[in-house]
Amino acid sequence: MKPADFDYVRNYVRAQAAIVIEPGKEYLVESRLLTLARKENIASIDLLVDQLRAKPGSELHRRVVDAMTTNETSFFRDLHPFEALKKSLLPELVQKRRAERQLNFWCGAASTGQESFSVLMTIAENFPEIFQWNFNFIATDLSLAVLAQAQSGIYSQLEVNRGLPATHLVKFFKRQGDNWEFDPVLRKKVLFKELNLVSNWPFMPAMDVVFLRNVLIYFDVETKKTILGKIRRLLRPGGYLFLGGAETTLNLDDAYERVVLDRATCYRTPLV
Ligand SMILES: C[S@@+](CC[C@H](N)C(=O)[O-])C[C@H]1O[C@@H](n2cnc3c(N)ncnc32)[C@H](O)[C@@H]1O
Repeated sequence: MKPADFDYVRNYVRAQAAIVIEPGKEYLVESRLLTLARKENIASIDLLVDQLRAKPGSELHRRVVDAMTTNETSFFRDLHPFEALKKSLLPELVQKRRAERQLNFWCGAASTGQESFSVLMTIAENFPEIFQWNFNFIATDLSLAVLAQAQSGIYSQLEVNRGLPATHLVKFFKRQGDNWEFDPVLRKKVLFKELNLVSNWPFMPAMDVVFLRNVLIYFDVETKKTILGKIRRLLRPGGYLFLGGAETTLNLDDAYERVVLDRATCYRTPLV
């Protein structure tokens, strides 16, 4: 890939999605763009970048950003946050919100939906009464491709083999040919929507719990600070944020309180 083309693509992806692609990652950009070029019937990466340059703001630009996202995820990823939800957070929130009967969750980098559905299964198994409340679960991502799969609730054998206990597969999924479909009644409790974390956020209700796992790692320090601040203001006092294992609020937004629950770490907003 020509150095100028590499710079064009990485600058564009950073400007649009804040995803930082360091010099030296040419192989990554090349392999993602090659897959995209094949899908779009474009003969080479050179021609693909030529088309981008010729038509600023085209649909192809959007697909390039989409192609540069890393969508790695799995059911019950890292397990501990879901244990903390079951053993500490949900009991506390059910107690705290019993009178108003309202709970709001947001999954801010939902990818193909496994994380949101893991939260839903945890609620269904332990506190199903919450579903009778005014319960809002919003799941967002920048990539339309992953959102389409999340919305379908359809997973391959390989995907359900990753992290999903057999008991949950039997209880919450139905076979559909070679694939598995997540319980449509539960699935419809999640509202999947497109949202770029670095653009303006449309109206969202004040949140009790936010999952923003394994996405801040792609951003620079200033972007991480901005997003953490916005989430802190969106969370209700005493609300909880879960980040990925390699992510923290430390030295980025010290108004969060770090809370360790067994082997899980989460971040709580001040009670005020
Ligand atoms: C590695 S996945 C994490 C999925 C899930 N949270 C987990 O931990 O398993 C990161 C997701 O962040 C999304 N993403 C990247 N940049 C984004 C942005 N600027 N706004 C919204 N989502 C973004 C990607 O499309 C991708 O699906």
